[in-house]
Amino acid sequence: MKFTESKVSDCQTIELPKIHNRAGNITAINELVDIPFKIKRVYYLYDVPGGEERGGHAHKKLFQLVVAASGSFDIVLDDGKKKKTISLNRPYIGLNIVPGIWREVINFSSGAICLVLASEIYTAEDYIRDYSLFKGLKNER
Ligand code: TYD
Repeated sequence: MKFTESKVSDCQTIELPKIHNRAGNITAINELVDIPFKIKRVYYLYDVPGGEERGGHAHKKLFQLVVAASGSFDIVLDDGKKKKTISLNRPYIGLNIVPGIWREVINFSSGAICLVLASEIYTAEDYIRDYSLFKGLKNER
């Protein structure tokens, strides 16, 4: 997918499998089975102070699946034309974010853990951190 052409409608929540018994739940995420990409990196945000916001960038190549492993937060997605806010608050729901989407992560509950499965290892070059540059690139199409 060309990052200039992606839309917020390309970012959907996925219901992940849940293995339930009276002693609790397990959710397992298998690459290319439960999510549409291979996983090269896993990271998680935690200890986010009340009122803080994260994100504020887009990626050129990276696909991500974002899960509220604990607590809740909202993700504001923006493709340069449309915005959509998704609330995540269940450990068995993942939001698939495709390349070329500006995202802000807001309204973290206390104790929230934002688990991210990513299709690439970290590189600073994959980031677009300037919103007007992002808007310009998206609206060239
Ligand atoms: P960033 O992706 O901007 O965080 P957020 O979107 O949650 O606000 O990353 C913050 C810092 O952490 C930045 O200096 C890059 C670094 N970082 C890594 O070194 N490796 C990683 O996998 C990630 C996600 C960030």
